[in-house]
Amino acid sequence: MSSIVETRNLRMYYTVRQGLFKTVPVKAVDGVSMNIKAAETLALVGESGCGKTSLGRTTLRLLEPVSGELIFKGKDITHDSQQSLKWLRRDAQIIFQDPYSSINPYMNIHQIMEEPLIIHKIEDADKRTEMIYRALEEVRLYPVDEVVRKYPHMLSGGQRQRVTFARALLLDPTYIVADEPVSMIDASSRVELLQILSNLQKLHNLSILYITHDISTAKYVSNRLAVMYVGKMVERGDVLKVIGKPLHPYTQGLIASVPDPDPSNRLSYREVIPGEPPNAINPPAGCRFHTRCPHVMPICSEKEPKLIEIEQGQDAACFLYHKEFVEEEQPGDKR
Ligand SMILES: Nc1ncnc2c1ncn2[C@@H]1O[C@H](COP(=O)(O)OP(=O)(O)O)[C@@H](O)[C@H]1O
Ligand SMILES: [Mg+2]
Repeated sequence: MSSIVETRNLRMYYTVRQGLFKTVPVKAVDGVSMNIKAAETLALVGESGCGKTSLGRTTLRLLEPVSGELIFKGKDITHDSQQSLKWLRRDAQIIFQDPYSSINPYMNIHQIMEEPLIIHKIEDADKRTEMIYRALEEVRLYPVDEVVRKYPHMLSGGQRQRVTFARALLLDPTYIVADEPVSMIDASSRVELLQILSNLQKLHNLSILYITHDISTAKYVSNRLAVMYVGKMVERGDVLKVIGKPLHPYTQGLIASVPDPDPSNRLSYREVIPGEPPNAINPPAGCRFHTRCPHVMPICSEKEPKLIEIEQGQDAACFLYHKEFVEEEQPGDKR
């Protein structure tokens, strides 16, 4: 299966001020190689601040990489001008966490849905209406002729998020970044929304980067799972394999801290993985997880493990499984 999106050693740094005259880089995405195949959903998980949003937005060139390569449908678009990327603004879409701020409260649903069609020059008004109705039906917002006349405040959070799904799909994109699309939605509506997303994925053969801090929702929508820690990918593989038998100690901690239905068995995330994640300005040398890892060895603070296949269809970057595969320093690396 061919890749729709591929990154090779991609880096994206923010620049922040420290004091009056000094600026320092925040290494939000720090050498990530990954791919998303045609018609597959890759779940990207990791705790808040590990770089998921930054990676997702960099794959759309909404944030600019500082180094590495970004390939979209086989074409290297790392250095293409924004002007020449208009096609990407149609072929790739993003769904945000907060359906309240991502749609205009003063427009009705028809107007909200029509806006991108006008921007992308679908001239025929009847054709636009037909496209809007079809998209709203696909996200099961019935009866459509009532829904189109409503304003966002008349809808629940879950219904509003369905409008943003429908709007993202109007122009028939190939790739969608769904950035925590259910984390602000009532728990009771989450599974249904994820099922809608999963149905849309199949119906339109979409490639989706599904970003979540909640590893337990990943299995509803994704084929593969990738785990990030402080700007790096530490594990990835078939979603059921990774959840069933996580290899990296960080992934093991994330999974152990998923709430158990029985409250007496619940462990908080902090009990499982003590301490705070290090900051992305000054990440630890070697394996970035070594400062919190229960299996830490001397090599872990000296060298950086490479992400390699450990079991069939499952990769991890951890010296527990190999000592010989060390990440080489890249030119320009100052760590
Ligand atoms: N606009 C910004 N300016 C500076 N640093 C930022 C900015 N946005 C995010 N960061 C930092 O980049 C890192 C990754 O953030 P983010 O990609 O938002 O993580 P996640 O989506 O996994 O929560 C964090 O250390 C965060 O504090
Ligand atoms: Mg985020």
